[in-house]
Amino acid sequence: DQNGQTAIAHTNIAFIKYWGKADLTLNLPTTSSLSLTLNEYYTKTRVEEADEDSLLINDLPQDGKRIHQFLDVLRAEMGDFPPLRVISENKVPLSAGLASSASSFAALTAAVAKFNHWDLSLEELSRLSRRGSGSATRSFFAGFAIWEKGDKDENSYAHALKTPDLPIALVVCKVSGMVKKVSSSDGMRRAQTSPDYQAWVDESAKQLDEMKAALAAADIKKVGEIAEANALAMHNLNLTAEDRRFTYLNQETVKVLEQVKALRKQGFIAYATMDAGPNVKIITKKDQAPAIKEHLAKRFRKIQFDIATAGPGISYE
Ligand code: DP6
Repeated sequence: DQNGQTAIAHTNIAFIKYWGKADLTLNLPTTSSLSLTLNEYYTKTRVEEADEDSLLINDLPQDGKRIHQFLDVLRAEMGDFPPLRVISENKVPLSAGLASSASSFAALTAAVAKFNHWDLSLEELSRLSRRGSGSATRSFFAGFAIWEKGDKDENSYAHALKTPDLPIALVVCKVSGMVKKVSSSDGMRRAQTSPDYQAWVDESAKQLDEMKAALAAADIKKVGEIAEANALAMHNLNLTAEDRRFTYLNQETVKVLEQVKALRKQGFIAYATMDAGPNVKIITKKDQAPAIKEHLAKRFRKIQFDIATAGPGISYE
């Protein structure tokens, strides 16, 4: 409309993780990453011209330091624009390892670009959003996306990955709604001090190639195997950091991981991935997701379970 612009971005879950920075200012990653955009979790963001930059999330005023810095990056990159009131509706459990920064910065980038009538491709929007949050680069695209790490500002952005129609689903286990104690940025910095870090980077490149092949073959079991190995190795970096070891996982996470293994023994396709929090996302086939959810719900009374499926790319209102 006349006074503002609204954009909607869905969150994404990485199957090959982004976990380390090669350049802190440009937010260039040490590895390329691959994700699935999800249908069930999204951020809807409206920007309006105002007297000063401000931020409201789910009706609550926020200290928008990170947003303000990002808006200034956009001003420096794209040319000045007026101060903006940013009004965000977040349908992602905040800071609990269901990357809300991905959908937030993707929606904000898209809304600001449209508000200013910048004529940009999804890849160009992805590139800009990287400066707000790395995982945001992958939230512009429906289904699977790859963030190519690149080696400079110009070539580090995501694109859609075409795959055959895949009946893939995630069983999302909300192990704890507690706010994470280590930010992703700090977590990455620490993980990069692990003696295993370079080996993880090298292995990640191989896993990305294997993952692309598994997706092309619509082999969900293989996709799950690779994703779980990549995620567990990422969490191992946190546990082996020289400056200083930590973990996002807790006792409940470990118990769920043990059940994921038990489900496999029963013949289910079930593989786990975790981000900067204790929640477990179980990769499976759509027709197995309800039974997996039921199996777990019986054993973990306090955990909430959702089933998530592939979601759309960026949209506007
Ligand atoms: C574990 O995108 O939150 O979810 O670039 O510092 O904002 P910043 O990091 P962020 O990191 C997400 C890390 C992850 C893995 C992933 O999504 O690839």
